[in-house]
Amino acid sequence: MLPGKFITLEGIDGAGKSTHLSWLETLLSGMGKKVQLTHEPGGTNLGEELRKILLDSSQAIHPETEALLMFAARKEHLDKLILPSLAKGNWVISDRFTDASFAYQGGGRGIHEDRLKDLEYWVQNTFQPDLTFYFDVTSELGRKRINARGNGVEVVDRFEKEKDEFFNRVRESYLKRARRFSNRIHIIDASEPVEDIRLRLKNIVLTIC
Ligand code: TYD
Repeated sequence: MLPGKFITLEGIDGAGKSTHLSWLETLLSGMGKKVQLTHEPGGTNLGEELRKILLDSSQAIHPETEALLMFAARKEHLDKLILPSLAKGNWVISDRFTDASFAYQGGGRGIHEDRLKDLEYWVQNTFQPDLTFYFDVTSELGRKRINARGNGVEVVDRFEKEKDEFFNRVRESYLKRARRFSNRIHIIDASEPVEDIRLRLKNIVLTIC
């Protein structure tokens, strides 16, 4: 048992995770917790290099290579940032973690769950987040929010370029997983008003304080 707490945020692209991430940081800091924010893929020097490759929309990547690179970045992230930070007693909040691999590479790309489970066990053994928020939106709403970002000047990455069918599969996979691990994963209806969402997040966070 590590003294810190590990919270992860999940959802399809455009679910609005980033807004809630910074609000959670403010909430926890206000409660006197030392908070470390991070994200996947990334969070380390090597991880950020892998992120550039993984998100680069100019190059096709085999689905299995994609899965292996996601877990390679995760190994670095766990060993160099997440575990040491938790050992110091920090609250680590990560924008995405392994549930994203099951949803995107599993549901989205069609990689068999057993393969992903093997990689999960290899990279993190039985380690899991203390709490996960899954922000649920339809692929239509997610797409609308992506398009509304940066007045349309922002370049879409290799995942955001995918069709709605892909995001429907990713969403189904997240929902299935959230129901299976309902003690850890909380489904948040991300189409609700922000104030209502914040109240729910706060009440759930208090259960692990
Ligand atoms: P994200 O940081 O949410 O993108 P943005 O900065 O544009 O909001 O995530 C990057 C992408 O990586 C996202 O489309 C989902 C994908 N991803 C996977 O496919 N598998 C994974 O295991 C992880 C961590 C991310």
